Amino acid sequence: MNILEVEAVTKSFGGLRAIDDLSLTVRSGQCFGIIGANGAGKTTLLNLITGYASPNTGSIRFDGHVVTGLPPYELCRRGMGRSFQIVQPFAEMTVIDNVMTGALYSRNGRGRSLAQARTVCEQALELVGLTEQANDLAGSLTIGRQKKLELARVLATEPKLMLLDEVMGGLTRGEIEDCIATLERIKDTGATIVMIEHHVHVITRLCDHVFVLDFGRALFEGTPADVIAHPEVIQAYLGKPQETQS
Ligand SMILES: Nc1ncnc2c1ncn2[C@@H]1O[C@H](COP(=O)(O)OP(=O)(O)OP(=O)(O)O)[C@@H](O)[C@H]1O
Ligand SMILES: [Mg+2]
Repeated sequence: MNILEVEAVTKSFGGLRAIDDLSLTVRSGQCFGIIGANGAGKTTLLNLITGYASPNTGSIRFDGHVVTGLPPYELCRRGMGRSFQIVQPFAEMTVIDNVMTGALYSRNGRGRSLAQARTVCEQALELVGLTEQANDLAGSLTIGRQKKLELARVLATEPKLMLLDEVMGGLTRGEIEDCIATLERIKDTGATIVMIEHHVHVITRLCDHVFVLDFGRALFEGTPADVIAHPEVIQAYLGKPQETQS
């Protein structure tokens, strides 16, 4: 079943076509990677899908319904869980209270007691490995842990589709490995994920489908192996091949 269908979507900012007649389909259970150079339109695409921006033309179907132009809170309620490229937790609130915002203002949030919401949050924190930090202030976390908190907040909305904007951005190699392991555990729960990612090795390890965005259009689409087999894609949009990176 297709959980997400983006059809012929265009988004212009003045004279710039940030997304240009773009179509893509995500199946349930897939881990769908989106790569592309800085400014290719990745975040804009995520904003269009999650309701933070409206397309000029085209349509978006989610979970069997046309959702084009619906606001973010409505899409969250329907099961879209989105993380942000620049994480901004409530620094003065504890880790678990940050995650509670996800659990209470989401798809199943309204019908929940505080105790039920807390259980959902504890499970999310355990999945990302932040149980011991549950009562720490979010502002005191390292960037690696703040990214995990962002994942936990999304998980607590119990999304049908997770959309992640560069969760590995700004992390050290060790933190990236840790984050890959976390995402593998999330995948094992049967999650459907769309992830924007710069690191090739992250895409090849986690994703079963890769979409290469170039100036708002599809440059190439296929399995990670297909993408790796196209050195010009790697060269132009991801820097040097992984083995030669310093
Ligand atoms: N609100 C906006 N107003 C005007 N131009 C915008 C706006 N948002 C994005 N753009 C432009 O649209 C293009 C795509 O930007 P976008 O942020 O989607 O790229 P990206 O692929 O996410 O880049 P990065 O890898 O740096 O995160 C860029 O040229 C950007 O300057
Ligand atoms: Mg971006």
